[in-house]
Amino acid sequence: LTGRDETVDGTTVAWRALLRETAGRLAEAGVEDAAADARWLVSEASGLEGAELILGIDERATVGGVRRLDAMVQRRLAGEPVQYVLGHWAFRHLDLLVDRRVLIPRPETEVVAEHALAAIDALAARRSPGAVIAAADLGTGSGAIGLSLAVERTNVVVTLTDVSDDALAVARANLAGIGRPGTRVRVAPAGSWCDALGEGARGHVDLLVSNPPYIGAGEELDASVADWEPRSALVPGATGLEDLEHLVTTAPAWLAADGVLVLEMAPAQTATVADLARRHGFVDVSVHEDLAGRPRLVVAARVAG
Ligand SMILES: C[S@@+](CC[C@H](N)C(=O)[O-])C[C@H]1O[C@@H](n2cnc3c(N)ncnc32)[C@H](O)[C@@H]1O
Repeated sequence: LTGRDETVDGTTVAWRALLRETAGRLAEAGVEDAAADARWLVSEASGLEGAELILGIDERATVGGVRRLDAMVQRRLAGEPVQYVLGHWAFRHLDLLVDRRVLIPRPETEVVAEHALAAIDALAARRSPGAVIAAADLGTGSGAIGLSLAVERTNVVVTLTDVSDDALAVARANLAGIGRPGTRVRVAPAGSWCDALGEGARGHVDLLVSNPPYIGAGEELDASVADWEPRSALVPGATGLEDLEHLVTTAPAWLAADGVLVLEMAPAQTATVADLARRHGFVDVSVHEDLAGRPRLVVAARVAG
């Protein structure tokens, strides 16, 4: 990076020039959203966030800042998703550490968290005042869903689980970042789905929420996903339904009598999963859309709401 023509005082480069140059380099290399990515990278390198970047755009860049930017641009040009290059990404009210050990949290999963919060509120309304709702985020990855529940509601205790030790290490780091609400969060030892909760939890979980792997082995993925994100977070088996089916069929044994299951999935899977839930004793089953209007999640309750 040189910021060739635009300097602050004839010798030093301003962030504005570096932003333009970065966007140009990314666009030339065929990076989608080159302008947006350039802003993220310049913001990270300069330490100027949001409105600060607009205000500080004509400040001269530091040598260290230019070096940081250059290193990040190289990684982005090699195809690494911008979220991993930055090392963190926003999810609802959280700024989560993310790296190749975990899936990048997606906007549709923010909607899943929203429905899990609604389920917590509905459960709390049925319980006596002051009751604590026991929730579990199964396959937590970065901790996105479970940590959001803990931060956004004070009447919930949350268990985070994952089969991947790597993912749990990232979730633990993010737990450390949320401060006081973190006292209501437990990270379970690595284990598969509900089994990770431990036998003592059987029949006592009020809310199970999960964004499990749900992509079929033969389905085509964007290179930015296939080459960089953990395959174990994406593909459960040949059909893509394997983990969803496992969760729906095992959840009743772990849920409390009036417990609720909230699951993210692909649009084409919602009818199958909703049907399966009805056949496994859930009486109040509903399908909900993501922000783009695609059916994306199933909420299944063991008693009518
Ligand atoms: C689609 S990612 C979701 C990550 C995170 N909850 C999110 O929404 O961003 C699926 C997660 O499930 C985990 N996983 C895969 N198989 C599992 C299993 N058998 N038991 C528990 N977690 C599993 C993966 O390691 C991964 O972290």
